[in-house]
Formats: sequence, C-alpha cells, structure tokens
Amino acid sequence: MCAWLCAVKSRERPNTLNFVDHWETMDIGLIGLATMGRNLALNMLERGVSVAGFDIDPDCRHRCTRDSRFASAAFSLHESLDAFIATLNPPRLLILLIKAGQPVDQILSQLIPKLNPGDVILDGGNSHFTDTIRRARELSHHGIRFLGAGISGGAQGARHGPAIMLGGHPVPHALEHLLQTISARFDTHPCLVHLDGDGAGHFVKMIHNGIEYADMQLLAESQFLLQHLIGLDYPGQAAVFNLWNQGALSSYLTATTARILDKTDPETGLPALEIIHDEADHKGTGQWAAQIALELGVSAPNIMQAVDARLLSKMQPERHLLRQPWRSPILANTTAEEKEWMIPALAGVLLAARITAFAQGFKIFDAASQRFNWHLDKGAIAACWRRGCILQGILPERIRQAYATEPDLVHLLLDPVLGQHVAQGFDRGRNLLAFALNRKLPVAGLITALSFFDALRQHPLWTRIIAAQRDCFGAHGFVRSDRNQRVSWDWS
Ligand code: 6PG
Repeated sequence: MCAWLCAVKSRERPNTLNFVDHWETMDIGLIGLATMGRNLALNMLERGVSVAGFDIDPDCRHRCTRDSRFASAAFSLHESLDAFIATLNPPRLLILLIKAGQPVDQILSQLIPKLNPGDVILDGGNSHFTDTIRRARELSHHGIRFLGAGISGGAQGARHGPAIMLGGHPVPHALEHLLQTISARFDTHPCLVHLDGDGAGHFVKMIHNGIEYADMQLLAESQFLLQHLIGLDYPGQAAVFNLWNQGALSSYLTATTARILDKTDPETGLPALEIIHDEADHKGTGQWAAQIALELGVSAPNIMQAVDARLLSKMQPERHLLRQPWRSPILANTTAEEKEWMIPALAGVLLAARITAFAQGFKIFDAASQRFNWHLDKGAIAACWRRGCILQGILPERIRQAYATEPDLVHLLLDPVLGQHVAQGFDRGRNLLAFALNRKLPVAGLITALSFFDALRQHPLWTRIIAAQRDCFGAHGFVRSDRNQRVSWDWS
C-alpha cells in the first residue's frame, strides 16, 4: 500500500468544534474569480445570496468590474485579501474556487492568521481527497472548519446549477442551505450529496471524473466507427448522436458530442473536427481515479484505458513514425445493408460499455467505504449525478433505482435491468467490434468494456495458469480448489 493511503487510513476525523449554533447565518466570500468563480458568483447573486469576491489576479477582478451583472449591492469586489476579510463578519464562510494543489495551500497560509475560530472554508476545486483530509486536520488546530466539495458541471453548471458532492461533518446550516440553493435540481431534488468523512466529497468527484474520462472515450470511439467503419459524414454522425440522445443513451455527453459534430469553423467553414489537433490533454483527476482503483485493488479497466488513450494520443513522434511503414488505410467500404444493422448495434454496444464503466466506478466506492470507513451511499451519489454534472443523463437515475431496489447490490451489472442491457448490447454488437478489428480500427475502450463483462461471466478464466506460473518460478503457492487449501509444489 502506498504511504499516503496508509496515512489516510490511520487518521482520525479532525476535532469537530462546537460552533454549530454559530453557523446559522454566515457572511459569504468567494476566492477565485476565473470563469468558474464568476459564474458561481452570478448563480448566487441570481438566487439572492450576497457575496464578497476576491482574486489575486487583477485580470479576473477587471472582468467582474466590466460585467454589468456584478453591479449589484449584493456583490462587493476587493483588491486585497485584508479588505476582503475585513468586509466579512465572523463567522465567515469562504469558498475557494482556485486551481488545485499548491495554490490552495498558499492561500490557506495567507488566510489562517486573518481568520477567526468558527470560520469555515469550503474548497470547491478539484483537489486531491488526501490533500483535503490533511487540510481539514491542519485547519482544525486553528479552530477553522475546512470542507471539500466536488463541484461538477463546468462553467454552465456553475452558472445555472452544478451537482455538488460535499464531504465532511459537521456542516454549517448556512453552507448546507447555500449549496441547496445554488445546485441543480432533478424535479425538486437538489443535486447535492453530503458524504460523511473529510475528503469524501473530493473522492466522489474524482471517481465522477474517472467515469467521465471513460464515457468520453467510448463516445469518441463510437464517433470514430460511425465515420471510419460505417462511413457517415459529420452531419450524418451528428444526426445519429442526436437520435441516440432521445433514448437510453440520453446524456449531457451524448448531446455534447452531437453539438461538436454539428459545429463548423467560422473562419474556414470546415467541420470542427477537421481543424482540431489530434491529441487530448488532461489535468489529472482521471489519472488519480485510475491510481486509487489500483491502490484499492478494484478492477476498473475502462477508467485506466481512457487515461491511457489520452497519453497515447500525445505520442506524436511515435505516431508519426509508425504511420510511415505501417499506415493502415481507413476504408469505410461498408454496404448499405451492413450500415442498417451496424448503427443500432453500435448504440447497443455503447450503452453496454457506458453502463460497464459506471459499474466499475461504483465498485470503487465500495472499496473506499471499507478502507476509509466512509459508508458512501451509492444511491445518493447516483441521485446527485442526475442533473448538473458532466455525467448527467438517464443512466444515473437508473442506477439510483437499482440501489433503491437492492441497497446491498454487490455489483451494478447484477441489477436485472442494467445487466440485461449490457448482455444484450454486447451480444448483439460484438460482431460490429469484430468488423472494426478486422479493419484495423482501434476501439480499445469498447473492447475493454466487452472483455470486462465477458471475463466476469467466464469460468474458469486464464487465472489458473498465472497462479501456477507464480508457484513454478517463485514458490508463491496456489490454492487447491478441490481442498480449498494453500500448497506449493516442486514443479521440476
Ligand atoms: C466537471 C468536470 C471538470 C473538468 C475537469 C476534467 O465535473 O465539471 O469534470 O472538473 O472538465 O477539469 O478535465 P481534464 O479532462 O482536463 O482532466
């Protein structure tokens, strides 16, 4: 086990100070006025919440002064941290929306001497959950409550209602009320989940992002097949994604994909995809999700594959050099008859793979609950993801229903409805993936999901030979299945 995991496990919850009565009403300040921060401030103002704003970057402050929507008595903008803090009466509620990592520690070290016991800081950035646990502990020594919240939904979510994953107890009433007010709504339910355990909010957001990476990869490969196997042009591909978005595949990311395919470059009139450089960046949250899955011993191959796919996309020199001798011509010479079955088959495979990727992510929650003693409520997490976040769509509501029906469900693929979609989607679509392989089209995400499902329902697997190999060269022993007994053999 890596050092930081041991550290998390052995930590007790930081001292909880008895400030709860003190927390009925709080003055609210927002630190970080880049796009997310400005949009969240506008969201608050629109909902009648007064807020003071500060950013060390004058450019971010100027954007507020130039924007008439901030010209409100409910908003005050400050040029120095001292003036910002002075305008807020204790107990203060400070929300950080700044870059994760060192900038958070830097601002905290500046804030600590200026704050009073009973003040509360909420970190709404994409911080690593172990940093949040550490900071909560450190700030508790100063009588300051530090909480972490994963806020999802990008700039539009922040503006009109994000999904919020809050970790830690106790939480000021004022903060709970604020988060309910500004979050997205599914019917009348706020898309806010409150998880016990400092760092648990950022943990759940990290897994959200891991699934987000996996789903983006699956959608990208599906577009790739529509283009290079089935031979549709961009408007045709957009029409397919729009159609899919009317049914079981309906989601924010499906709709986003359709929007991208419909877009043209205003300068050249070319389809957007034709002018976008062929590599994908990442800021780390997907990688963290893959790392924690490994550390917790959970199989989550689609999250890993999606991170890997972004790394592979950046191997530009190798990709360039390998294209010379081995370039595989992409020929979408599919017949009209083939197209007819391929598009629905692809929809089925994509849905099956999407459900599989979510199932992998939700399994990580079980392991984390055990390891960190968090009791993560998977039904409540799925409910939170129904609106506001990047993963919003039909599936989180189906997952919520699965856990409502069977709270102790061992694996999401065991839910009869979800399992049926997965089995049918893969069984009807595997022929399509065989076509893709034969035409040398790389679709590792879809195939990873298919193999994950096939492996889980196969017995025996290839595992026995691995167990024997370990014993053969390393005397590691193996379990005799006929006696359920651990033995080691002399293989010579
Ligand atoms: C969200 C998003 C948001 C985001 C990440 C991922 O939930 O609103 O997940 O946090 O887009 O920054 O970005 P990378 O792809 O750059 O890692």
